[in-house]
Amino acid sequence: MLKSIGYNKANIAVFISGTGSNLKNLINHSLKKRSKFSINLVISNKSKAKGLEYAKKFKIKRKIINYLSSKNAEKNILKELKKNDISLICLAGYMKILSGDFIKKFKGKIINIHPSLLPKYKGLNTHQKAIENNEKFSGCTVHYVNEKLDSGKIILQKKVRIFKNDSSEKLSKRILKQEHLLYPKALKKILSNF
Ligand code: GRF
Repeated sequence: MLKSIGYNKANIAVFISGTGSNLKNLINHSLKKRSKFSINLVISNKSKAKGLEYAKKFKIKRKIINYLSSKNAEKNILKELKKNDISLICLAGYMKILSGDFIKKFKGKIINIHPSLLPKYKGLNTHQKAIENNEKFSGCTVHYVNEKLDSGKIILQKKVRIFKNDSSEKLSKRILKQEHLLYPKALKKILSNF
């Protein structure tokens, strides 16, 4: 149902639930002269998500999705994606799990950023788990989304050192910095192959 990406810029929808620092970073990248994508839509399941403010500042369409029933929520999302001619979905801190049906409809067109070196530490509390397991490294991963949580094909990863006496807050800050470098790089990589 999604159109494939041609020579023009890819129309991207970013899905968020909170701070939106990755969204902000992607917006900044999209505004660069040679960018291969534009952010045309921001979907949030939280009306108070801070990331919505950046979207507003840059006059990007925003849609808050009410998740009282996920079937209806996804129906509404689909409508918005179609209306805005979206060719790729970037999940960036979206705290809802998309249904298998939804993912099938967009096979190969949904990507996510996750704060660990997948396949290690899927799900939540990744920094804490990596520290507790005495890992020397953690990091971040951009991957395609499939029906299994945090299990789709990896596009790019970046390692980040874990120091002695690191806290999950400190580690998360260092990893987030790397996320901001990795997500645009991963987009560049996949958009040149589309
Ligand atoms: C990031 O750490 C991302 O890897 C994870 O959720 C966090 C979102 O941060 N999926 P932000 O809202 O982009 O600042």
